[in-house]
Amino acid sequence: MLAAVPGPSISTALATGGVSATDLWLSRGGREILRGARLEVPRACVTALIAPSGAGKSTLLRCVTRLLDPDRGTITVGGQDVQTIPPRELRRRVGLVAQRATMFPGTVGDNVAYALEGVGPAHDRVRQAIEAAGLVGDWASRAADELSGGEQARVAIARALVRDPEVLLLDEPTAALDHETGELVGATLRRLAEDGIGICLAIHDLPFARRFADRAVHLDGSDATEAGRDEAPAA
Ligand SMILES: Nc1ncnc2c1ncn2[C@@H]1O[C@H](COP(=O)(O)OP(=O)(O)OP(=O)(O)O)[C@@H](O)[C@H]1O
Ligand SMILES: [Mg+2]
Repeated sequence: MLAAVPGPSISTALATGGVSATDLWLSRGGREILRGARLEVPRACVTALIAPSGAGKSTLLRCVTRLLDPDRGTITVGGQDVQTIPPRELRRRVGLVAQRATMFPGTVGDNVAYALEGVGPAHDRVRQAIEAAGLVGDWASRAADELSGGEQARVAIARALVRDPEVLLLDEPTAALDHETGELVGATLRRLAEDGIGICLAIHDLPFARRFADRAVHLDGSDATEAGRDEAPAA
């Protein structure tokens, strides 16, 4: 898919939403973690952010939702500087699914409804988000902490989707999943992109990116499509 589908033109996509991060620098504890990082996440497109462990992928995603602020650099959502967007609004518009899904006590419905104020676990929006995340059937009433890692990963996606985000950032979404569940999550993400959401996967798993992403980039924004082609041939 990577080679065949170039994805929409970034300038067109950014006119209607999406994330653009330019020249981000961030140091912690005397170490430079981000050195001029860039990231474009157009809407209606799956972008894979490919970099080795410790390179700064999670740090970059955390900067986009302002869980961290870079020392320098600019991040926009739909052309608007994230510094000017109230944090609650920003985190509604840009969902971040963390590297490790954390479930709160209660049911799947409770866990998804938690993301929305004034909405109960039986609300239509909650049910729709659970289904959109690929949990089709009677999942809302199940105890969240009894689910498998892969099921919890999908509940975490539902929790972001229920807020109707423009962009969904997923940090290593396949890390806890077996191959089959990973394929289900990948298919879910493609469907969401087709519905217009901008998807970004921070991922080591290049074969997965090849199957499900429209474009793959390094932390400096350069094309990662060719880099891994020799070392990790697609399955
Ligand atoms: N608060 C912090 N203080 C000091 N160093 C930090 C801090 N947070 C992250 N780091 C370091 O920054 C580097 C980048 O971390 P980050 O979690 O962003 O990498 P990553 O690309 O997501 O890695 P992985 O693929 O293993 O998840 C790592 O070397 C990490 O140890
Ligand atoms: Mg990480």
